[in-house]
Amino acid sequence: MSKTSALPGCLVTGAAGFVASHLVERLLSLDLEVVGVDNFFSGHWENMASFMDHPHFHFYEYSVNRPHLLATLLKAHPRLTYCFHLAAIVSVPYSIEHPQETMEVNYQATASLVQEASQLAFESFVFAGSAAEYGNDQRLPLEEQYASAETEHLSPYGGAKFYASQCVAEAPCGVALRFFNIYGPRQDPASPYSGVISRFVDLALSGKPLTIFGDGLQTRDFIYVSDVVEAYLHAAGLRGAVVLPFRGIYNVGAGKAVTVLDLAKSILKLTDNTESLTFLGERAGDIRHSLAAVKCFQNETGWSPQISLLDGLHRTLSWAR
Ligand code: UD1
Repeated sequence: MSKTSALPGCLVTGAAGFVASHLVERLLSLDLEVVGVDNFFSGHWENMASFMDHPHFHFYEYSVNRPHLLATLLKAHPRLTYCFHLAAIVSVPYSIEHPQETMEVNYQATASLVQEASQLAFESFVFAGSAAEYGNDQRLPLEEQYASAETEHLSPYGGAKFYASQCVAEAPCGVALRFFNIYGPRQDPASPYSGVISRFVDLALSGKPLTIFGDGLQTRDFIYVSDVVEAYLHAAGLRGAVVLPFRGIYNVGAGKAVTVLDLAKSILKLTDNTESLTFLGERAGDIRHSLAAVKCFQNETGWSPQISLLDGLHRTLSWAR
């Protein structure tokens, strides 16, 4: 038997994406076999450059709504045990223009995958949920039970993620992690769904002023990508206190509210940028404040964020440079 076939296997969907590519790297570092799928709707080959030739990594250019995806992959990789489902339509504006397609990819494909994972006795299925599942709920910090069928979702993206998370958590092996604002290396500053940190870093390093939408006093809960990766491992019982089977819906954030203005000032300081700030009109559909209640996931799994915002900004800046 080859070494690869003896390793427990993980499927990572959306492997060419920003977060998933970090997750693949980490799983390979734990000596697991990793099968990645991506259809390059928004992922990039370059994100996989560091592991594409790794002997324990296997890539398939598949969409997640391909029928019998897990059964097909299991034929070639019978040790697949864990599924990390990150592939999605990630652009909120795109979801507004294409609600049907967003439902098909972000909800229906997830529902089919988790059902297949249960039938095929996967030990763990961890899904990338989103803070968007809370709509514009301003009861802060946001507790998991606040998102409900009554929540007014601001986009098909938020609605599809909500129903997908519900469906995942009903499966015996299903965990949905509602991530707040993720940032870090490989986040694309040029896409329509670019996070504010990737945009600010890009502007600051090009010596341009940082653009603030509104007064800058809106707040977000920023979580660094390596903490997100560790959250996935904890949810799957690969690290921390979880003993499988484990299921449920959990927030993953730093649990700290940071104003966009303070964020901008920190980035200007770290880059010695003297171009300062440009205040533009408030962005349509923006929520004012977002903050995760993080105790549930921490108590259940032993996970806690390790990277401070300042440290995370340093790391993101050195990558971008
Ligand atoms: C995030 C998600 C979005 C999700 C939403 C729901 C990202 C990239 N987006 O949006 O998919 O639907 O949470 O909770 O994670 N800003 C500026 N200047 C800029 C860019 C942004 O001032 O150049 C401001 C925005 O107006 C906003 C804040 O920064 O107030 C954060 O923006 P962004 O990073 O796009 O994330 P969210 O709006 O939180």
